[in-house]
Amino acid sequence: MHFQAITRIPGDPILGLMEAYAKDPNPAKFDLGVGVFKDAQGLTPVPRAVKIAEQRLVDRQSSKSYVGGHGDAAFGRLLCQLVLGKDSALAGATQTPGGTGALRLAAEFIQRCLPGRGIWLSDPTWPIHETIFAGAGLKVGHYPYVGADNRLDVSGMLAALEAAPEGDIVLLHACCHNPTGFDLSRDDWGRVLEVVKRRSLLPLIDFAYQGFGDGLDEDAWAVRLFAAELPELLVTSSCSKNFGLYRERTGALLACCADTEKLLDVRSQLAFIARNLWSTPPDHGAAVVAEILADPELKSLWTSEVEAMRQRIARLRNGLVEALVPHGLSERFAHIAEQRGMFSYTGLSPDQVAALRERHSVYMVGTGRANVAGADEARLDVLAAAIADVCK
Ligand code: LMR
Repeated sequence: MHFQAITRIPGDPILGLMEAYAKDPNPAKFDLGVGVFKDAQGLTPVPRAVKIAEQRLVDRQSSKSYVGGHGDAAFGRLLCQLVLGKDSALAGATQTPGGTGALRLAAEFIQRCLPGRGIWLSDPTWPIHETIFAGAGLKVGHYPYVGADNRLDVSGMLAALEAAPEGDIVLLHACCHNPTGFDLSRDDWGRVLEVVKRRSLLPLIDFAYQGFGDGLDEDAWAVRLFAAELPELLVTSSCSKNFGLYRERTGALLACCADTEKLLDVRSQLAFIARNLWSTPPDHGAAVVAEILADPELKSLWTSEVEAMRQRIARLRNGLVEALVPHGLSERFAHIAEQRGMFSYTGLSPDQVAALRERHSVYMVGTGRANVAGADEARLDVLAAAIADVCK
């Protein structure tokens, strides 16, 4: 028997919650697990701009032949502008299956082209960061980010980066930190940039939630600062959340280089690696994004839809803290209103998370990470009562 020695491993801690939630017959359940946005009806909508772009593609598309190794050229160019701003001449995007594909491509690129370099991840970070980089054979280290007191630890972060070996890679979350929701201030970013320069570190910025924090351009502030101040930079961009294209697996790895020749060198390597990972990327989501970003009217519709999603998340954050007032818990959970993006490190313990699920059908990640964007605005009082119950 060939498979005799193969043992079972636990399911994915985040995706597994989707199944558990779907099976729960309680009509009053809350889905605060996987990072998907939900509207007032509890649905994860396809944005109108996406629907219009899709219809145009159906009418117009005449071939399903492969796109090239770097994917759709218009998508790459327009995404570079969306992420880096207008001045993105010395950057190139390689289209990937989602932001996760971009991370995997970055990991393989580092392993192949920058051998011996370690990578530094925030503690905590998205669990898949850990397994992607370790899986590609990189030495993974951690810098403090949010401590046991559930507060940002910027000095701990800076000290760890200061001690990182020269040339190592540092993975930074551009905005809407996953899992904590705690973002660096602009001053903090400036201090991180100083250390990055002094230690000759290579930043890899994960940008999965553009538009969900403070706005499309505001959220890109740190990425654009780093791109302006550093000759070389890697950015992973995801269109899953802001374009609502989750299952279409749409993203890119952006490489910024000091000159055109070097950009061509780097891109030749990325095309080779991508060819060996997935050959050529899936087309549909990227074609939709290109259609939207190339058309000023469609782009403006999409921008307003992203802004509406962002405002809903902000309302949910403030509303939940308000709803905790009658329980005397608004101060304890005040950070929920200060954090950004979909996620909140609530500070709830694994036992409290388990009790929330068992007693109230509230589903969130065991670490206490709640996807605030999944909450039901009309029932925040019910959610607050459930939280109060497990905090007794
Ligand atoms: C999350 O962290 O919930 C999202 O990034 C979705 C995922 O793939 O885990």
